[in-house]
Amino acid sequence: MLKRPLGSSGIEASAVAFGAWAIGGWKWGGTDAEASVSAIRASLDSGVTLIDTAPVYGFGLSEEIVGKAIAGRRREDIIVATKCGLVWDRESATLHAQTDGRRIYRTLSADSIREELNASLQRLGVDYIDLYQTHWPDPASDMHEVAETLDALKREGLVRAVGFCNASPAELKRSADLLDTDQERYSLLDRDRETDNLPVCLSDGLAFLAYSPIAQGLLTGRIDAKREFADTDLRSGNPRFQPRVLDAIDAVLAPVKSLARERGVPTERLVLAWTLAQPGVSHVLAGTRSVEQAETNAAASELVLHADEIKVIDQAAATWPGFETLTEPQA
Ligand SMILES: NC(=O)c1ccc[n+]([C@@H]2O[C@H](COP(=O)([O-])OP(=O)(O)OC[C@H]3O[C@@H](n4cnc5c(N)ncnc54)[C@H](OP(=O)(O)O)[C@@H]3O)[C@@H](O)[C@H]2O)c1
Repeated sequence: MLKRPLGSSGIEASAVAFGAWAIGGWKWGGTDAEASVSAIRASLDSGVTLIDTAPVYGFGLSEEIVGKAIAGRRREDIIVATKCGLVWDRESATLHAQTDGRRIYRTLSADSIREELNASLQRLGVDYIDLYQTHWPDPASDMHEVAETLDALKREGLVRAVGFCNASPAELKRSADLLDTDQERYSLLDRDRETDNLPVCLSDGLAFLAYSPIAQGLLTGRIDAKREFADTDLRSGNPRFQPRVLDAIDAVLAPVKSLARERGVPTERLVLAWTLAQPGVSHVLAGTRSVEQAETNAAASELVLHADEIKVIDQAAATWPGFETLTEPQA
């Protein structure tokens, strides 16, 4: 398994990470805890060392499942990444989302971060976090002061590396000397960060962790209009999953699928390998729910793409009109 540094933290983490949002169930139509534990263990057995979770994923459930899966494994072999800044048990000035009868608030005060960190350590059953990240910026907090709080936790030995998620390039640049990583949405279909955050990461030596690298299933090339999602799955009724968009993705993926067939690998593995080959993209956080997905996704970092194969995928990606164009209201 290819390993890459988490910024200047001294930590090397597998280039393919286990993304643990879906196994929390919330927004993903529920979860099967036993199958999730098996999926995490299969990932670890396939060489994955980095697991990305968050308190809000299932309101503690994802972290608990990760804790169960890693119990008994050598702690030093696993890079546990979690987050702070989205709370559901207290109010703050900024409502982040109202969903499933719960209100989720953004808050990144120093006291709240420390409280959240303690709760995460307990749920995960560990005594330090390898990578601690702000989940979303808090408009009520100065993000540089937040970075200083994260840095203090690092100096106290409670966390080993720190980063932002969903950050503006200006926020990232201002605090880059205190940070190790940036986590942003990025995939073959979502490339906006190539012109803002990625250049900051490259110039300032931060790892770039790409989230939703399979576009929540769309880049498997196997989601068609017949696929039904549970009402509580974020993909149900989502404009990104409407037939018009699925047809456009099918057209973009046609040459990628034929290349995958030639190489004898699943399309998503090829797509993940291409993503890892993009300048500055150090890690892909692949949301994974089953043993089969775990094995397929983990193997992406071993897939060597030749320059002419990358060119085929580049050319296919260049034909993508963009979600915004396709999801504009029709006249
Ligand atoms: N910081 C943030 O704000 C943020 C936001 C989003 C995500 N993230 C992180 O990034 C991770 C990944 O993002 P994501 O879960 O949104 O999207 P993703 O990784 O693009 O897609 C995950 C979904 O794709 C399907 N899938 C994955 N591997 C597959 C395979 N080999 N074959 C077939 N289907 C496969 C599964 O859906 P099915 O359920 O259909 O099997 C899975 O739930 C999250 O788990 C989380 O750690 C962070």
